[in-house]
Amino acid sequence: MENLTVFGLGFVGLPLSLTYAMYGVRVYGVDVNKEYIDRLRNFETHVFESYKGRSINEILKESIEKNLFIPTTSAEEAIRISSSIIVTVGIPIEGNSVRVEVFEDVIRTVGKYLMKDQLVLIRSTVPPATTREIALPLIEKESNLKCGKDFYLAYSSERIAEGFAFEEFQTMPVAVAGVDEESTRRGKELLQIINKDVFTASSPEIVEISKLIENSSRDVNIALVHELAQLTEKMGVDTFEVIKVANTHKRVKLLSPGIGVGGHCIPYASKYIFYKSDALGLEMQLLRAARRVNDERPLRIFELISDKLHKLGKEVSSSKFCFLGIAMKDNSSDASESPAVRLMEIVSKNGGKTVWFDPYVILDLDGKELVMESALKDADVVVVPVIQEDLDLDLVRIKEYVKDKCIIFDGRRVLESKKVENLGMIYLTI
Ligand SMILES: NC(=O)c1ccc[n+]([C@@H]2O[C@H](COP(=O)([O-])OP(=O)(O)OC[C@H]3O[C@@H](n4cnc5c(N)ncnc54)[C@H](O)[C@@H]3O)[C@@H](O)[C@H]2O)c1
Repeated sequence: MENLTVFGLGFVGLPLSLTYAMYGVRVYGVDVNKEYIDRLRNFETHVFESYKGRSINEILKESIEKNLFIPTTSAEEAIRISSSIIVTVGIPIEGNSVRVEVFEDVIRTVGKYLMKDQLVLIRSTVPPATTREIALPLIEKESNLKCGKDFYLAYSSERIAEGFAFEEFQTMPVAVAGVDEESTRRGKELLQIINKDVFTASSPEIVEISKLIENSSRDVNIALVHELAQLTEKMGVDTFEVIKVANTHKRVKLLSPGIGVGGHCIPYASKYIFYKSDALGLEMQLLRAARRVNDERPLRIFELISDKLHKLGKEVSSSKFCFLGIAMKDNSSDASESPAVRLMEIVSKNGGKTVWFDPYVILDLDGKELVMESALKDADVVVVPVIQEDLDLDLVRIKEYVKDKCIIFDGRRVLESKKVENLGMIYLTI
């Protein structure tokens, strides 16, 4: 195929571009962040991925040097020499406000430079009917071209999990549907360059909504175990053992609780659904309840820790909390909507001192320490919310720096409780 343009070079767009480059497609990667484009040209990125033993930085360097990946801020230059355009720019949510205008801006830009016979494939996660009701009319208006005759438009949901992007772009079954038959065919053809497992659906709405409900179903299932944990934690009963026993039933498959639900994918999915359901006058009670339970989970964890502190004769307001890892999930550099960050905010709001150390997350957030020992020094509470492989959780070393009777909160059940206690620290888990 001829060149490809990818809009948005974040956690999805960058590895996606580089995957196409691996298959010999020349990709123009467009991002509005000029400083980031400069960093990419120097083979630097905040995206944390690897493939077959090579880091994303190595793959980036090789693709740029082979002239198969060209990062640019110029949408015009990129679109003018491409046969297809993939959009991966997400729709941000602030509070409960779904900022569709960010997506509209990208689509307007695409429409402005679009030429005859090009395909636009949307891979961002979007509220239901966005492809047909927002993208289609905007592109037609900006380009003066007719969809299905002059250009083609399709939607394909993105299902990768961060950390496994290169692998999953090629192996995760992927659904696509165009606004007309030819758009579906062209969308499938583009996806099949990197993935053999592409199936078509009858309309973009089917694929858009299925993506949202895939994520929302996880939100509901996680909320169920978080609600269970509220009960068991208050009763002093081991939540994980309850789940283990329940899961011996052949038709039951409960998930494991954590300290919340982070990232954009899961929390945003239900909010995109509400964007449409509100317009249709629907309540969506179950999805809203699940969101509330998961949103409140860091607060429940805070209560658990502060109760324990209180029992030890300490108060949050005079305690130092050290967070080892603040990413939104294990082995990730992404701290967006991270429950660990939310928990830190709650601690700070209640007067506690918070510091954090994370080998993967690059973020200018208060309390950042570049050396783990400085973060641990004189801590009253050490919080381990996620597993970051490069974090050395050697308990003997931790003990050297923290205060007496320090609480070790193990949000992932990765530490040996006995060892913590034998070292004179207090083990606390979910
Ligand atoms: N991160 C994931 O694991 C994942 C998985 C599945 C689906 N998704 C969905 O994929 C989409 C992208 O997610 P992400 O995590 O890559 O987002 P991201 O925030 O990491 O990246 C988005 C990029 O788009 C750029 N951008 C913003 N406006 C632009 C514009 N007008 N033109 C060009 N670039 C622009 C930003 O500068 C940023 O670099 C979202 O809809 C998300 O819900 C993400």
